Amino acid sequence: MRIRKAVLPVAGLGTRFLPATKAQPKEMLPIVDKPLVQYAVEEVAASGIPMVVFVTGRGKQAIENHFDLSAELEQELAGRGKEDLRRQLRKISSMLRFAYVRQQTPKGLGDAILTSRNLVENEPFAVLLSDDIIVNEVPCLKQMMKIYYRTGHSVIAIQRVPRNSVSSYGIIRGRQVQDKECPGRLYRIEDMIEKPSPADAPSNLAVIGRYILTPAIWKALSNVVPGAGGEIQLTDGLKNLLATEPVYGYVFEGKRYDAGDKLGFLQATVEIALARPDLGKAFRKYLRSLKI
Ligand code: G1P
Repeated sequence: MRIRKAVLPVAGLGTRFLPATKAQPKEMLPIVDKPLVQYAVEEVAASGIPMVVFVTGRGKQAIENHFDLSAELEQELAGRGKEDLRRQLRKISSMLRFAYVRQQTPKGLGDAILTSRNLVENEPFAVLLSDDIIVNEVPCLKQMMKIYYRTGHSVIAIQRVPRNSVSSYGIIRGRQVQDKECPGRLYRIEDMIEKPSPADAPSNLAVIGRYILTPAIWKALSNVVPGAGGEIQLTDGLKNLLATEPVYGYVFEGKRYDAGDKLGFLQATVEIALARPDLGKAFRKYLRSLKI
């Protein structure tokens, strides 16, 4: 069955970026000149998925406005001869179909995903966490979809992380699968644990914010009780799913930035700016001049 929907949970409070996020969603913080969340939405579009389901919350209206058509602004830009900019704005709102559902209290990622159930229904779907920006010629999600279409099972993006940072992630225990199409990159997941201490971590293979899930996740999530941090964790739902069907971990190709963290946000800003054809040269020159 084709993957036609991508769920983007955006209800989180963004406390790590206060005070910047006091009156605006963290997903709207810009990396260069594009809000964080737009990187994820563009990855969905580039992977050929036609619909995004946002799980939003209070104070997140700016996200809806961002992906909506702004007739006044377009008219204004057209009047001033800024056709390029007008077209760019039009592209954002016409890229995909968007649907919104609200999570009333931020009870955790697992609860956010469950909130989207009535819009996703009984079909496989993708989940993207917009804090994780992944840059690669073939989008991470598209790489994962290929595996889903070959296996018919859930696929989770994974990456090796330093041992001392395992407690920031969901960590998997897995058995490498011999696979000709992506040698060394595919794991059959045997167990998962959310934010373990380094002593309890079964490996240093961390879950990164890209998932392709089969509809069996609904049942697997329905009896999850609050876990790490007192939240309903997606990782705990996935652990339940493991008991009923295979789940794969995939070491994706690409560079990942943790834009949910201040240092990661700055790294993404610098590297994405350096890669921009309109900015890169001047910015590189500026950075060199700092002699740090
Ligand atoms: C979430 C997931 C975690 C995953 C991480 C990836 O955690 O719960 O399993 O490793 O995203 O970014 P969060 O960063 O929202 O605390």
